[in-house]
Amino acid sequence: MESATFNDMSAVVEADRAHVWHHLTQHKAFESVDPRVIVEGKGLRVWDATGRETLDAVSGGVWTVNVGYGRESIADAVREQLVKMNYFAGAAGSVPGAIFARKLIEKMPGMSRVYYSNSGSEANEKAYKMVRQIAHRQHGGRKWKILYRERDYHGTTIACLASGGQEERRAMYGPFPDGFVPVPHCLEYRSQWGDVADYGLRAANAIEEVILREGADTVGAIILEPVTAGGGVITPPEGYWPRVQEICKKYGVLLIIDEVVCGVGRTGVWFGYQNYGIQPDIVTMAKGVASGYAAISCTVTTEAVFDMFKDDASDPLGYFRDISTFGGCTSGPAAAIENMRIIEDEGLLANTLAMGDRLMANLHGLMEKHAVIGDVRGRGLFCGAELVRDRTTRAPLEEKTVAAVVGGVMKRGVQIGMTNRSLPGLNNTLCLSPALVVTADQIDQITDAIDGALTEVCS
Ligand SMILES: Cc1ncc(COP(=O)(O)O)c(C=O)c1O
Repeated sequence: MESATFNDMSAVVEADRAHVWHHLTQHKAFESVDPRVIVEGKGLRVWDATGRETLDAVSGGVWTVNVGYGRESIADAVREQLVKMNYFAGAAGSVPGAIFARKLIEKMPGMSRVYYSNSGSEANEKAYKMVRQIAHRQHGGRKWKILYRERDYHGTTIACLASGGQEERRAMYGPFPDGFVPVPHCLEYRSQWGDVADYGLRAANAIEEVILREGADTVGAIILEPVTAGGGVITPPEGYWPRVQEICKKYGVLLIIDEVVCGVGRTGVWFGYQNYGIQPDIVTMAKGVASGYAAISCTVTTEAVFDMFKDDASDPLGYFRDISTFGGCTSGPAAAIENMRIIEDEGLLANTLAMGDRLMANLHGLMEKHAVIGDVRGRGLFCGAELVRDRTTRAPLEEKTVAAVVGGVMKRGVQIGMTNRSLPGLNNTLCLSPALVVTADQIDQITDAIDGALTEVCS
């Protein structure tokens, strides 16, 4: 009876239309078209309720399914764990929780402790709470401010939006809590200082200016994406990261790296920050940790940060008094262990570098052919192409035309993404993040589809 219901796709689509409230979606459209329901996936391919096959070049829409769809070994690992022990509150340990923490820390020299929760937003909230508690316990209530960068995104909760550098995501959800302060973005293509030789240094120095303006004794931390994702796939400019690290050290500002997108292989190394030789104090991660096979996020700290929460056992408020009910689910770390094994055994970091190079080369080829591509950026299998009306003025292409390009690519059987409800007037970057198992043929299929759509829509 149940499976008969599941197999009746028109009933599924009607149930979805009638009762599901989709994320980031204007539902008016579903009065005239069907909502899309994804039914099955294998590798990079997905099938919807109409049976239509698409090559997914965005790993589940939001850069998540790093090891691809249909991984039976992850499903088996999760099943085995669930029937043995599905859940116990996080004050106690679990077998997969302990083992995954050890494996993770092996990939993160200098880091030491893993705090489990369930989403990127939640992982960042934990980091903010750590910073605030450190401010209270170590700095007499000072050093409570947290800096964030224009164009970066850290999640959907009110505090994460307060630290979000994307105006269209924040709009209408305020007022926001105090203590989150923006620093300038670091996208050289949209330089705030004109055409300068030392852009990276300037963008980093702009952080120092904010710290000095706010008062270094009030600033506890800065949160940054290693490569900005939804804000336009912004790879950091030359000289940026070493100077950021120097500034953080100089003013005693904790460095929180948001690896929710880049973490666990996306850029061809385990973590995006490892491309730039920096040593964070706190690292958050979510999407690729278990490739969407189970919900899991981690807030990882150094032992020095952790120590500040156990230095006075007589203080009843001295330890980290956060709670994450579902941080005690064992499915997340069980899936994450198998996800990591797959990346290692199948050599997916190497594949990410090789296929990322091919993707970038193909995009540069398209840039020669299509004047509408103003800039191409990327690291590993995380790439973006910024579309402009005019290469000289860099005037951004209108969002609806960019959306038409994405639609044209879809018509050719490939799903790509675009910056979406992010920055007013600047939702003009095509986003690509295929699963780390992508093949050379699939990379070419993706860029061929973009080529066709650009020819159709923009010439
Ligand atoms: C960089 C970054 N941080 C945090 C988040 C929030 O993650 P979640 O949606 O799991 O709360 C996202 C989500 O897209 C993200 O891109």
